[in-house]
Amino acid sequence: MTNLNNALLAQQGLRTWYSDHARKLPWRLTPSLYGTWLSEILLQQTQVETGLPKWHLFLERFPTVGHLARASESEVLKAWEGLGYYRRATLLHKAARAIDAAGEFPMSYDAWLKLPGVGPYTAAAIASIGLGEAVAAVDGNVQRVVARWAGITDPVDGKTGAQAVQKVADAWLDHDAPGNHNQAVMELGALVCKPRNPACTLCPISSHCASANNQDMWGVLPAKKVKKKVQRWALTWHIARFENNIVATQRPESGVWAKMWAFPEMSPSAEFHPLGEVMKPVIHLLTHRRIEATFQGWKAPNKAAMEAYATEVGGVVMTWEELEKRAMPRLITKVFNDLRSE
Ligand code: ADE
Repeated sequence: MTNLNNALLAQQGLRTWYSDHARKLPWRLTPSLYGTWLSEILLQQTQVETGLPKWHLFLERFPTVGHLARASESEVLKAWEGLGYYRRATLLHKAARAIDAAGEFPMSYDAWLKLPGVGPYTAAAIASIGLGEAVAAVDGNVQRVVARWAGITDPVDGKTGAQAVQKVADAWLDHDAPGNHNQAVMELGALVCKPRNPACTLCPISSHCASANNQDMWGVLPAKKVKKKVQRWALTWHIARFENNIVATQRPESGVWAKMWAFPEMSPSAEFHPLGEVMKPVIHLLTHRRIEATFQGWKAPNKAAMEAYATEVGGVVMTWEELEKRAMPRLITKVFNDLRSE
């Protein structure tokens, strides 16, 4: 992967580049813990261009953390309007009240981490920028820069990949200027090492980068875990009845609901009288499946027809009471009494 020498070169490259190219963002020009905290919460799911006017608006309406703490929640939500993810605003407000009650801002990474709305990234960003604490802040931008530079191919949203990214980020960290360093990495991700078409020729750390000018690498990094698509599955169960009997089938040994008891998925012969849908379709969510089950009712002309149908589908004729004693999918047990009473 990387070695310490390369990490030091990257650190130096980042420092020089940042002093030449950093955007003159207001919370950088006149730093304060309040302004830094506000900027980090605002930028959690919001682009700098959108967050910037809101940062000014917040400082105007709530010039200090005390003003923010004493404001009503609806005032804070009103100021937040248009940014989305409103939970950030209520957590910001809660944190303001906690800070105001404590009488001072938290003075370390660990202390910031205890506040509502402040996770490891935000705590590291505030502690490094606002307090000079040497902690590496790893957000999405930083993950991208680091994974590409070090050639980390494990998914960055998995344990191994995240640890590998953190290790490189820690090795890079400039302990003399951790706030500027962290912002430099973020800035590089925002301005140069962009998700699509990174500007490798402008990059200050391209000489040791595993992905520089190599689309086969930057095109696939940072790797993310494959999200399993939710499968939609429409299923029809046939409830064939004669007096108090139904035909039930045991499901195969593998697959969903292995060996559990349910109803045939094949309709019975024409001698059965169709009753239509006996209840409205049931939606059932499993981890990667959305099942919509329809129940079609049938009335058998006699018991012999039930036996013949059971043989055909590999099932058994039994009473509702017998079926109830057997293991059935939750989808069925939750409507079992409705089915039986139809
Ligand atoms: N995104 C979140 N915090 C940032 C900061 N301080 N500078 C640039 N981008 C950021």
